[in-house]
Amino acid sequence: MVPLDPLYDLTDAELTQRIALAKQQLGPSCVILGHHYQREEVYRFADLTGDSLKLARLASQRPEARYIVFCGVHFMAEVADILSAPHQITLLPDLAAGCSMADMADLIAVEQAWQSLGQWLDADHLITPITYVNSSADLKAFCGSHQGTVCTSSNAGSILRWALSQRPKVLFFPDQHLGRNSAASLGIPLDQMALWDPALPFGGLTPEAVERARIILWNGYCSVHQMFQPQHVDQLRQQMADIQVIVHPECSYEVCQKADYLGSTEEIQRVVRAAPAGSCWAIGTELNLVNRLKNEMPDKSIHFLCPTVCMCATMFRIDMQHLCWTLENLLQGEAVNIIQVPQREAALARVALERMLQNS
Ligand code: 13P
Ligand code: SF4
Repeated sequence: MVPLDPLYDLTDAELTQRIALAKQQLGPSCVILGHHYQREEVYRFADLTGDSLKLARLASQRPEARYIVFCGVHFMAEVADILSAPHQITLLPDLAAGCSMADMADLIAVEQAWQSLGQWLDADHLITPITYVNSSADLKAFCGSHQGTVCTSSNAGSILRWALSQRPKVLFFPDQHLGRNSAASLGIPLDQMALWDPALPFGGLTPEAVERARIILWNGYCSVHQMFQPQHVDQLRQQMADIQVIVHPECSYEVCQKADYLGSTEEIQRVVRAAPAGSCWAIGTELNLVNRLKNEMPDKSIHFLCPTVCMCATMFRIDMQHLCWTLENLLQGEAVNIIQVPQREAALARVALERMLQNS
């Protein structure tokens, strides 16, 4: 096996050369997928880039690639494994690249919540569970087996609308902010949303609060997007009267209400690229993406919404060394860091994901 540690003694130029060579030698047998939050030195090697929804779709569209090397985080690689063909193998260059938000809901806690809710109402007939794609495969399987589905930041509104056409209530996990912002965009008032805290008995709610709620939100959040504050929007607007603000819907309701646009990572790029030269933007999402747009469009004035650095530490774990190590091991016939969702779980999770793909 090619060892990882000695790769840390190489210069960036040497690593660049070795990755390019390995990629060339592997040819179409290997496809590299890159999420928009990846650091630039890794992102430039991706054959296909996108937000979570786009990457989920792309995962199944390169059947000639025996290996899918996923430069992103764990749940994304799981989705690629679930949606790709059986002969394909998905690899995550660093297994420690998780998502702290995804870790805020686990199957035991969600099953407990479902049971607790079931003591007050007929959960299976009245509630549709929706898991944000930022969640483990077993939660997607839970949704698959409870007539529920998955959503991403780019389709959460249409998925919520679909879910509410099926049953009167939704249990949305793990991101409370995406759930609240998407429900609000459908015109659902905040007093018809309740926050389920898995650390408290009965989620800290009363039967009356659950009865009133159309959307039951899980108490989870993204620690990166949580850092953007409404006063950051106010401050930039005071400094630059013509600034337009675009934020990711994982930001709080208060921040999203002050923004001009909300969008997934793909949508943020699309909107800013389509804007005229000379326009002025504040962007509220992970720093690597914002810096990429800044470098790409020097003719626009692009600002990071937060005065401090907001980076996704787990996305950052995928570095050139891990990518090089993964590719060079493939060349030696060794697949490292395979992500393989157990078959039964994958089948149920696929049901939920396919429901999403049909309804978005
Ligand atoms: P996107 O689906 O918008 O790429 O978001 C993924 C994510 O993890 C944002 O924090
Ligand atoms: Fe998870 Fe937040 Fe990182 Fe996205 S930015 S992968 S939600 S921790």
